[in-house]
Amino acid sequence: MVLSKEVKRRRTFAIISHPDAGKTTLTEKLLLYGGAIHVAGAVKSNKIKKGATSDFMEIERQRGISVATSVMGFEYKDIQVNILDTPGHEDFAEDTYRTLTAVDSVIIVVDCAKGVEKQTRKLMEVCRMRNTPVIVFVNKLDRDGKDPFDILDEIEEELGISVNPLSWPISMGPTFQGVYNMYEQKLNLFSADHKQTVEYESIEISDIDSELVDNNIGEYATALRTDLELVNGVYPKFEIEAYRLGLLAPVFFGSALNNFGVQELLNCFIDIAPHPTSTKTQTREVSPFEKDLTGFVFKIHANMDPNHRDRIAFLKICSGVFERNTPYLHVRSGKKIKFSSPTAFMADKKSIVDTAFPGDIVGLHDTGNFIIGDTITQGENLKFKGIPSFSPELFRYIENADPMKFKQLSKGIDQLMDEGVAQLFTSKSNGRKIIGTVGALQFDVIQYRLEHEYGALCKYENINLYKACWIESDNDKQLKDFRLRKHDNLAIDKKGREVFLADSPYALQMAQEKFTDIEFHFQSEN
Ligand code: G4P
Repeated sequence: MVLSKEVKRRRTFAIISHPDAGKTTLTEKLLLYGGAIHVAGAVKSNKIKKGATSDFMEIERQRGISVATSVMGFEYKDIQVNILDTPGHEDFAEDTYRTLTAVDSVIIVVDCAKGVEKQTRKLMEVCRMRNTPVIVFVNKLDRDGKDPFDILDEIEEELGISVNPLSWPISMGPTFQGVYNMYEQKLNLFSADHKQTVEYESIEISDIDSELVDNNIGEYATALRTDLELVNGVYPKFEIEAYRLGLLAPVFFGSALNNFGVQELLNCFIDIAPHPTSTKTQTREVSPFEKDLTGFVFKIHANMDPNHRDRIAFLKICSGVFERNTPYLHVRSGKKIKFSSPTAFMADKKSIVDTAFPGDIVGLHDTGNFIIGDTITQGENLKFKGIPSFSPELFRYIENADPMKFKQLSKGIDQLMDEGVAQLFTSKSNGRKIIGTVGALQFDVIQYRLEHEYGALCKYENINLYKACWIESDNDKQLKDFRLRKHDNLAIDKKGREVFLADSPYALQMAQEKFTDIEFHFQSEN
């Protein structure tokens, strides 16, 4: 009974956006509502600031802070809300992709002037793969932006999802009046001076033709009525099922900086966002209501202190009740492990937890047992699906630059790869090691961390590659032929899977056209 109640009152989600759309600001305002922080600015420091790309100390500092803000939990109206932080910097997109495997829904922030941007499109692809329910928050209405109908069209087109506005802006920029909230049937009036407070005037209006509307927004009333008529004509009635299936995104308009529209967003979110749902394993689906504990590691964070090589593994609980000091099966190794000081995260505080429920994230101290994707159970031999490695886009050979430190280098590379910082491939033709990343910054981070945490020196050599794809085929003859012809472009990943390293889009296309029985995968599951 306790388990069922706890599952139903949990909402675990991530906020995603293109950098600068307002993710940090919105996160912060949500935390203010939840009472998890009391002053604005507390989350801001988590951001890797613009221009900090060559300042490794800054990155290290941020990495330290981001452990504390990895999960921000708070209670709101008896609902346990868990926000999973995702790095804003696009070079760390892979981290974000993995975090998205641990959430039950997302809120996407879109800047009303810039519309849908590149990073949002990419992140949405990951959501779509998993049918994650999304709510869109169109931000910065206090500034001039695109026409709301155009923004909605853009979201539908660019993000490939149907939309349904649940609030509607009344003008924008300097003449922004507020929003009409169709979900709650309220007119919320904007005035630009409540940056940190949570109060503003809100009038219940069930009939949009009421005089109250004219009395409050005067000349803007006619335009609002016309807009709403159009909205009702164009967009079907909001269907919660379509939202939960990831087919329909409710849209809210507001201004995170001015704390406007945030509470309505939160109120609607806790109403409609799904509680933890079933999670797929390689053999069956695990329901959160099952009494036996299961969970998977979606993120690993190394200790900042080079004298302590321990790490924190972030476990997403999928079913049952997690209890401190209870032996659990680490499925990959077959070992039983007890956790004496599992941590829960509440905004900027960490604390030891005795029990945790599905949807919660627990930080486990790790001395090197875990890799991303590991499953923990109460004894069942399960493996959760769906922690993807994406095909990297940048490649370099990595070489040892200090012959005396060979061991340190190989240990360091090994551990950094377990953390998911980048991917390692070994060329089949020359045995050289190749690092593949999604962002250029990772190369510098790896070099810096190898030196400072492992005392190893590495150097890079450029390699001209376009993409790495995992190959698979039932046609042995074709596979043999492929291996023979493409020998110089084949490599093995860390798990021993075969990878084709294409030099160019053309080479990839030719290979796909010629070897029709070979599947070229652009992501692999850990
Ligand atoms: P991010 O995490 O998505 O990268 O964005 P963040 O919240 O840091 O917001 C990016 C910039 O946009 C910040 O300004 C922030 O203050 C501003 N912003 C966020 N929401 C709104 C809004 O509703 N209206 C307006 N006008 N601005 C908004 P900055 O100058 O880059 O940083 P700061 O100096 O204000 O901290």
